[in-house]
Amino acid sequence: PKENVAVAGNVQALQAPAAKAKNITILYGSQTGNAQGLAKKYGEQLEKAGFEVNVSSMSDFKTNNLKKLDHLLVIASTHGEGEPPDNAISFHGFLYGKRAPKLDHVKFAVLSLGDSSYEFFCKTGKDFDEQLEKLGAQRLVERVDCDLDYDEPAAKWFDAVKEKLQQGEVVQQNAQEAAPTVVEPAIEYSRKNPFSAEVLEKINLNGEGSNKETIHLELSLEGSGITFEPGDSLAIYPLNNENLVNSLISALGFEAGKTVTVENEELTLKDALTYLLEITPLTKPVMKKIGEYTLNEEFHAILADRELFKTYTHGRDLLDVVEKFAPFSWNEQSFVDALRKLPPRQYSIASSLSAYPDEVHLTIAAVRYEVDGRNRLGVCSTYVADNLEIGDKVRVYVQKSPNFKLPADEAPIIMVGPGTGIAPFRSFMQEREERGAQGKSWLFFGDQHFVTDFLYQTEWQSWLKSGVLTKMDVAFSRDQEEKVYVQHKMQKHAAELYEWLENGAYFYVCGDKDRMAADVQNTLLQIIAEQGSKTEEEAKAYLDDLRKQKRYQRDVY
Ligand code: 2AM
Repeated sequence: PKENVAVAGNVQALQAPAAKAKNITILYGSQTGNAQGLAKKYGEQLEKAGFEVNVSSMSDFKTNNLKKLDHLLVIASTHGEGEPPDNAISFHGFLYGKRAPKLDHVKFAVLSLGDSSYEFFCKTGKDFDEQLEKLGAQRLVERVDCDLDYDEPAAKWFDAVKEKLQQGEVVQQNAQEAAPTVVEPAIEYSRKNPFSAEVLEKINLNGEGSNKETIHLELSLEGSGITFEPGDSLAIYPLNNENLVNSLISALGFEAGKTVTVENEELTLKDALTYLLEITPLTKPVMKKIGEYTLNEEFHAILADRELFKTYTHGRDLLDVVEKFAPFSWNEQSFVDALRKLPPRQYSIASSLSAYPDEVHLTIAAVRYEVDGRNRLGVCSTYVADNLEIGDKVRVYVQKSPNFKLPADEAPIIMVGPGTGIAPFRSFMQEREERGAQGKSWLFFGDQHFVTDFLYQTEWQSWLKSGVLTKMDVAFSRDQEEKVYVQHKMQKHAAELYEWLENGAYFYVCGDKDRMAADVQNTLLQIIAEQGSKTEEEAKAYLDDLRKQKRYQRDVY
């Protein structure tokens, strides 16, 4: 409409005379995509505010550009026990190494993402903040460390950064932004605004007698406009288990129907504990807050000692705390105020949109274990396994993967995915089949027993038959006396595996992070050393180089 044109015109007329815009580099280190998402969002906002912005994964950033840097924003997550995400490893190492340059000319700010249920909370962000200062860079604003519910603290950090950047600068107005938008934007589903997806199918993939319970879940995305690529994840907002919530409320001696306020929303205590707040696991900040409501000496001894804290909180939940350390001086409201928000859980997507339009499939292992004689349930996995039925709705959003992507159609790929680690590779194969991709592919799968635990067995066999999958090696760990794992199969085919790498293969690992992925990496290093006649150092350099070329990618949890 005419009016809009006029408004846009006025803004242009008012624009400041070509002031040179500040140049801002935003680097992200991201494992699951949250840091990447923020970096892109903030990059766009700064661009709209008239700055020149370059947003890049740390692994894509050329370190000799550090000399030319002006303003550097670092957004980094921390993985597991204080490690940098895969795409931050080399940049992190570079800043700590001998070749790191003086950075007196750089102004910087760091935003760290993490999870306070881990001991080394936000360690990677802290590292960058400390090291950039050591190298002489000047801090624009204080670092902010975010827990899983990062939206608000991250936004505050960004507002402070933006204000600093704008100080003393005539920022160019962006005419497009000032003009009212005429087109209604389509609804975008996100962490803040999840889509309610209907359950189309739910199957236990394990046969009778298995120790495992692995759920294949199919959800409808119809009408959502949601898209994703192989390698991306789907996040699910779970509900807490009803029995656990009831037991907790009764152990607290509270009234389930009592009204409490959580983030400006009034609801009953029972609803707050079911939908909004985390009651398992136990994190340090929450335990500290709980400590304000009890004088119990044993509780405070646990809080004061790192090792005791780790041992006590491992596998335990709020009900344990309430039962063991009562009395507490809280009421319903101060109790809920002490808790952390219930975070969504991410699962690697197991399907491809080209094969299953408007659907998303997941492979979820139900987590169940026992501590102190009480059965414990993984929050999201058993919400899916025990509570979701076909026809139910579940709140989801797609989490783009920063590091895990299918390469060009002709590139050979090696996929290592024991247990639920198989999920993204099912997506890879579906996609390659639909695209008629010609690249070779090799799957290493493992689980406990062939008869009950060969996830998606018939699909793999038909892909082998049709040639979409070139090779498959399986390791069923408990079908014989001695454990056989995926890495043993890799070792067995060491020469051929190395030949694939030498011919440009991409190497993917998905699944258990602490044991499997570490053992697989060691085996890979061994194979490279033995087959390539390299020293340990040279083998490491070879693997680092693979990582730089994005030919060593991990999705581990
Ligand atoms: P296990 O349970 O018999 O020890 C999927 O869970 C498969 O991964 C199972 O066969 C499991 O074997 C196996 N697994 C356990 N630890 C592993 C490790 N460190 N490396 C590779 N596979 C492992």
